[in-house]
Amino acid sequence: MSEHSEGKREHWGSGIGFILAAAGSAIGLGNIWKFPYITGENGGGAFVLLYLVCICVIGIPVMMCELSLGRHTQRNPIGAFRAITPKTSLLAHLIGLCIVLTGFGLLCFQNYGLGALLLLLGVAIFRYSWTVVGFAGVLTGFVILSYYSVVAGWVIGYFFKALRGGLDFKNTTEAVAEFTRSTGDVSWCIGFHVFFMFACAMVVWGGVKSGIERWSKILMPLLFLLLYVIILRSMTLPGAMKGVSFLLSPDFSKISSRGVLLALGHAFFTLSLGMGAMTTYGSYVSKKENLFISSLTIVGLDTLAALLAGLAIFPAVFAFNQAPDGGPGLIFHVLPVVMNQIPLGGFWVALFFVLMFIAALTSGISLLEVVVAALMDEMKMSRHLAVLLSGTVIALLGCLCAVSLDSWDRLPALHQLLQQTFGVGQSSFFDFMDNISSNWLLPLGGLMTSLFVGWIWGTRGAVNEIRHGADNFADVHLMSLLSGLREDPHHNNPQYHVLTLAAIWGIFIRFVSPVAITIAFLHLIGWMKI
Ligand code: TRP
Repeated sequence: MSEHSEGKREHWGSGIGFILAAAGSAIGLGNIWKFPYITGENGGGAFVLLYLVCICVIGIPVMMCELSLGRHTQRNPIGAFRAITPKTSLLAHLIGLCIVLTGFGLLCFQNYGLGALLLLLGVAIFRYSWTVVGFAGVLTGFVILSYYSVVAGWVIGYFFKALRGGLDFKNTTEAVAEFTRSTGDVSWCIGFHVFFMFACAMVVWGGVKSGIERWSKILMPLLFLLLYVIILRSMTLPGAMKGVSFLLSPDFSKISSRGVLLALGHAFFTLSLGMGAMTTYGSYVSKKENLFISSLTIVGLDTLAALLAGLAIFPAVFAFNQAPDGGPGLIFHVLPVVMNQIPLGGFWVALFFVLMFIAALTSGISLLEVVVAALMDEMKMSRHLAVLLSGTVIALLGCLCAVSLDSWDRLPALHQLLQQTFGVGQSSFFDFMDNISSNWLLPLGGLMTSLFVGWIWGTRGAVNEIRHGADNFADVHLMSLLSGLREDPHHNNPQYHVLTLAAIWGIFIRFVSPVAITIAFLHLIGWMKI
């Protein structure tokens, strides 16, 4: 099937083009905006270490699941799951049954909204089995992009402010006031949000090779160049070393269980995992590429970008004695104040926002591409119609986020609906979208993907896919039983090492990642205290 459809589907023009596009998806506001502020709030070095552990234990294995699933099926996430799902899957029925029973239970306790939702979900799982995971991924794309592009809109707005010299604050109080004023200005937020959506749509409009790949090849090297320039500036400030040491010296007394969960959720978000973005990008990869090395490279570049962003920001923050735990506004509040105290400050701030815009753009296009690919494959739409339709819907959804940034005041009806469905609500629609996607949909999507690849498609099928272009990866012995590679014809060959990469990977996706994510969930819903 894959050979048959490979002819028609558009593919990346080169291996490096694919790596840059995928790294572009991974490197985004998550690295440059979110990673520094959650590191600042959670004690610096120790949190960084935790985050690195999550990246290795869960990030790399799940990345390989998504890429191989995409390349094997040559489909969008919905089609990918549908192509491999067997006629009957006991595991899916079991999960469906649990969900239906929970739904009934909730109805009995008069929680009608969530109860009905779970019933619906359970029935969908009975009917469509694992395909539901792909479908949920595409929906998650809508959810994330709608609030992501609002934040990206602030970045563009702040860039213009910096150009006009509108960011020369004396202290953080002034900067905070300006941030609150700007983000409270609905037309400012909506204007730049729509502008950003338009930019994403323009790139995706051009297609895989002459849109996404071409722009990634230009923008990603530029992004790293800008990052280095800003780091050079930041590290040569007097007193900068305090910032470096904050980032690199772990103090484990500062680690809380909330920090562990944040690190886990962020690992998914920053690597664009859990909703099929990498499945979609994987479906454009040729059989010649080495998916193992590609995954390592993408994850490595993403981690590098996060650490570099930390090195760009914390030295500046500490050099001017600012607090590192400024929260989501860290970059918007602190950076202009800090930079204002050095020559050409406005220039550096503007440069920084250009950098953030580039990062956001290459991530935004990957989110849009998931939806577009699904519409193209499943509804047989043309690319242009799909871009137009999904871009408009997401832009409208984003407008709702923009009018409800820190309170529900403007959306009382929606607030009531969501509160009746999900119980205790977030403080705004923006918050709701962020919370439901990063804390729930992505980890759940990642959990289901690794269970699906490890137990339903089977490690053996996946490894056979990865073997194309990566034969060193897959020759197996002893551990084959535990990892599900028992029937592999190579597993008995005595000249191979006992432990192979494929076997380790199998164990990770079958046991380690699912268990780790499940523990995090049990903790999140309060059933388990770590
Ligand atoms: N990874 C991007 C960031 O760090 C955001 C992103 C792009 C994303 N595509 C995604 C997150 C798909 C989850 C899923 O900013």
